[in-house]
Amino acid sequence: MSFIEYGDTIKEGDTAIVFLGHESMFPVKVQPGGKTQTKYGVIRHSTDLIGKKYGSKVTCSKGGWVYILYPTPELWTLNLRHRTQILYSTDISLITMMLELKPGSIVCESGTGSASLSHAIIRTIAPTGHLYTVEFHQQRAEKAIEEFEEHKVGHLVTVKTQDVCKNGFGVTNVADAVFLDIPSPWEAVGHAKLALKHEGGRICSFSPCIEQVQRTCLALEEHGFTEITTSEILLRVYNVRTISLQIPDLGKTADGNSSTGVDGGNLSNEDALCPNLPQETVQFKSGVPLKEMVGHTGYLTFATKNLF
Ligand SMILES: C[S@@+](CC[C@H](N)C(=O)[O-])C[C@H]1O[C@@H](n2cnc3c(N)ncnc32)[C@H](O)[C@@H]1O
Repeated sequence: MSFIEYGDTIKEGDTAIVFLGHESMFPVKVQPGGKTQTKYGVIRHSTDLIGKKYGSKVTCSKGGWVYILYPTPELWTLNLRHRTQILYSTDISLITMMLELKPGSIVCESGTGSASLSHAIIRTIAPTGHLYTVEFHQQRAEKAIEEFEEHKVGHLVTVKTQDVCKNGFGVTNVADAVFLDIPSPWEAVGHAKLALKHEGGRICSFSPCIEQVQRTCLALEEHGFTEITTSEILLRVYNVRTISLQIPDLGKTADGNSSTGVDGGNLSNEDALCPNLPQETVQFKSGVPLKEMVGHTGYLTFATKNLF
C-alpha cells in the first residue's frame, strides 16, 4: 500500500480504512496478530485482513460485516486524527486546480498542520515532484514525518520545523506553486516569492477572515504578484429520497370520478361534507439537499508571480 499508487491486496503495515457505513469509518494499521473492535464485533488482522483484496466485505465476530477500503487522500482527510483545523476535499480540489498542480510540480506549503492537504498535494505531484512543507510546531512536524513514512510517501516530501514568516521555506527559486494556511500569510508573501521559480508560478493563501484576505492581497500587490483573485467554494450535498405527495381531491367530475383538475370541479354539498374521501398519492424520486450544509471554511486567494 502507498498513498500514491493502488495495490490490490491488504498487507502487513498498511493503513486500511474500515468502512461501516456512510459517516462511519476509521483507519486501521494492519498488523499480524492485531485486533480491531467494531460495533459488529472484532476483526482479526491475520485471518480477516492480511492477504484479502481491498474492497472486500469482511465478516466480524458478531456476524455483522464491514468493507475494507484502500486509503486515498480523500478518505484520509475524513479519517485522520486532527492536530489542527484541516482543509477538506472541496477546498483542496479548487486549490489543486488553481495552483496548476500536476506530476512533477515542486510545491512549498505552510503550515503542515494535520497534513490533510499535504497528502493530496503529494498524490498529485508524484512520482517526480516534491513538497517542501514548513511547520513551526515541533510535535506536529514530527507526527507528519511519521505519517508520510508510514504511507510510503516520505521520499516525496521534506518537512522543515521553522517559522515560515521569519525563515521562509528553506528553498529558493525552485517552486512551481506555494500554499499558505497560517494566521498571518501576508508576512510570508515575500518568502513565497523567493521560493517560487525565477520564471514564475502560482500562490494560494487560505484565510477564514476577510481582514486577513485584505492584508494578504495588499502584500501580494506590493510584491508584484498579478491576477489576484479571491474565491470561496461551497459544497451542496443531496440525498436521493422517495417523496410521496397527496393529490388534492378538488371535487368530483360529472361522471362521478374523482378529479384532480382545477377546472373539473362539480363539488356537491355532499362531497364538501365528506372530508375523508380516499386521496390519491403520487411517489417520485428526488434529490433533496441536506438540512445542514457546511458553511464558510475560508477564502482562497490566488495570484501569479510573473517573469516580468
Ligand atoms: C490550520 S493548520 C494547517 C492545516 C493544513 N492545511 C491541513 O490541511 O491539515 C495551520 C498550521 O500552521 C502552523 N503555523 C502557523 N504559523 C506558522 C508559521 N509562521 N510558520 C510555520 N508554521 C506555522 C500551525 O502550527 C498549524 O499547525
